Amino acid sequence: MDPRKLLKDQLLDWKSWGVDSVPRTEPALPPSRPLALSPADLDSLRAQVAACTACPLARTRTQTVFCSGKPSPLMFVGEAPGADEDARGEVFVGRAGQLLTRILKDVGISRDQVYIANVLKCRPPDNRPPEPAEVAACAPVLKRQIELVNPKVLCALGKHAAFSLLGWEGSMKALRGTWRLLDGRWVTATYHPSYLLRTPGDTESVKDDLRGVLEKLSSLGSGL
Ligand code: URA
Repeated sequence: MDPRKLLKDQLLDWKSWGVDSVPRTEPALPPSRPLALSPADLDSLRAQVAACTACPLARTRTQTVFCSGKPSPLMFVGEAPGADEDARGEVFVGRAGQLLTRILKDVGISRDQVYIANVLKCRPPDNRPPEPAEVAACAPVLKRQIELVNPKVLCALGKHAAFSLLGWEGSMKALRGTWRLLDGRWVTATYHPSYLLRTPGDTESVKDDLRGVLEKLSSLGSGL
C-alpha cells in the first residue's frame, strides 16, 4: 500500500482519538515494524505489545504492562505503569492501585469483575507524565484493546486517560460524572487514584462517580 496513504490513515485514526499534534522527534530507536492494528484477540495484541519498540520507553521498561482483569462491560483506563507495575507486569498494583481496589470495593465492585488498562503500556522513567509522542504511539493499541474488550462503559482515571479517550483538555472537575458517547460506548471520567493519595478529600467524589457508572450500566441493562 502507498506509504503516504498509510501515514494519512494512521494520523486520521489518532486524530479521531483526540491526538491533535505529533511532535517531530529524532527516532531514538531503530524504526520498529508498524503496529498492525487488528490482532484478532487480546492475547495476540498483548504479545504484539510485549515486542513493541514504537517509542523510547521500550528502552527503559522492565516489561510491558497490558491490563488487569478479564473482558467486562466495564473498562477503566489509567495513565501508565509505575515502578510496581513495571516490576510485576500488571496494572494498578502499587499504592494507587491498592487505593483503587479499596474504592471499587466500597461501591460494590470487585476488581476481578472489571477490565483495567492504561494509556501507556510502558513505564515512563521516574513516573514522569506521558509525553504526547508516547501517547500517540500507544493510542492504536488502546483503541484495539477497547474494541476487543468491547465494554459498554469506559471510565477514564485522570486527565491523561480523559485526553486519550475524549480529547478532553479541560479540568477533571468539569468532566467528572458527565457522559459522552464514543463509538457506541458510554465514556465518563473521574479523578486518578494517585491524585487521591495527595487529595484524599476528593475520595467521596470518586465513589459518587463510580456509583454513577453502576447506574449507567444498569440503565443499559448490564450488570457486572
Ligand atoms: N497509575 C496508573 O495510571 N496506572 C497504573 O497501572 C498504576 C498507576
